[in-house]
Amino acid sequence: MRYQAPRGTQDVLPPEAQTWLDIETTFREVSRLYGYGEVRTPTFEDLGLFVRSSGETSEIVTKQMYEFTDKGGRQVALKPEGTAPVIRALIEHNLCGPGSICRLSYVTPIFRYERPQKGRLRESHQLGLELIGSDSPAADSEIIEMTAAFYKKIGLAEIVVKINSIGRSECRAAYGAAVLQTAETWLRDQDEETRARAAKNPLRMLDSKDPALQDALSGAPAVLEYLEPDSAERFDRLQECLGAAEVTFQVDPRIVRGLDYYTETVFEVQSTQLGAQSALCGGGRYDNLVRELGGPDLPAVGVAMGIERALIVMGLEPGAYRRNPLDVYVVAASPDQVPAAGALVRSLRSAGMSATWDLDKKTLKAQLKQADRLQAAFAAILGEEEAAARQISVRDMKSSEQHRVSDSEIISFLKPRL
Ligand code: HAM
Repeated sequence: MRYQAPRGTQDVLPPEAQTWLDIETTFREVSRLYGYGEVRTPTFEDLGLFVRSSGETSEIVTKQMYEFTDKGGRQVALKPEGTAPVIRALIEHNLCGPGSICRLSYVTPIFRYERPQKGRLRESHQLGLELIGSDSPAADSEIIEMTAAFYKKIGLAEIVVKINSIGRSECRAAYGAAVLQTAETWLRDQDEETRARAAKNPLRMLDSKDPALQDALSGAPAVLEYLEPDSAERFDRLQECLGAAEVTFQVDPRIVRGLDYYTETVFEVQSTQLGAQSALCGGGRYDNLVRELGGPDLPAVGVAMGIERALIVMGLEPGAYRRNPLDVYVVAASPDQVPAAGALVRSLRSAGMSATWDLDKKTLKAQLKQADRLQAAFAAILGEEEAAARQISVRDMKSSEQHRVSDSEIISFLKPRL
């Protein structure tokens, strides 16, 4: 019997695992620069936490949750998202007292029983940020600014930040009624369950990928027309803050998001390189969740960015950041050069460069082939001629360009080129 990774999951292997590490490191660096502290929560939680937070009408809860009863008879679920567990931890450990602001980040796997396709997995990974304790539009702007800064750092240029406001619950009730009315003809042909779900949360229909429903809703009014005056003013201020932070954005009234906890600001970053699954990330404000989960009355805003989707776009954008899995492969062109090659490997590593070499006394050609296979950025070749001149030949493995560098300058030559 041969086993395979379960459907909708994937193994991350070298050299791609290095890119994952680089993405996570970049995210942690952005988080640190903005003063966010990392939280690690368990892989599974009480089922009720997600039912309470994500919402009983969300697809994530109704259809996609990996839930089970453990051997002690407890109902638990693998986390389908990171926000509710972070808020549960914040409340449990009293991380944020009244009047204070708490900035948290996380890197987590999430589990959703979805139909797998490109960019949609059953186990995927999120980089998340949550800012708890401020209801200022400047907080929403900070989260969006960080998100844009992260994508810029990993080299994604073809992105669009789309923002919207879904207001407070009064606005959503009035707007929901208008959406229901617009979709009336379509709803008449649907089953009982779909109609009940639509009646409970009409805005969810706007998020549907069903073309017939999208067609039916094409004449629906924009939620922005239904905003209470204070929400509209808040949304204007957010746009001012984003302008001051030099974040380019578009207002898109169709962004509503698939989780129940959102209030006021919602946003997504989309890539022009992705198709229907164009959301690289999603987030928004959730001013009632901390209280609803039994904590103090604290407003909050956050985002989660999918690592797999970022990787897809990195593969599509030629300018995107991608580091070679190995910095230098050291080649000993003749057996006499083996001791010097060993010494060079060690000094490169001490200088912070990844380096390896041939352990099996292969030919020069075989060693260069190995350098290529390992996707080394450079090969450093030590031969008789080079040794006599106290030099090393450095070959750029991508361009095949070769330089002679004096052996005392090899580190200062390579470092800035990596
Ligand atoms: P979400 O929109 O459900 O929001 O997920 C955020 C991001 O996670 C998506 O834009 C996508 O990049 C990635 N993602 C979600 N599901 C999958 C999947 N099945 N396969 C691949 N990638 C996926 C949330 O999870 C909220 N907790 C975001 C948030 C944080 N809101 C406030 N704070």
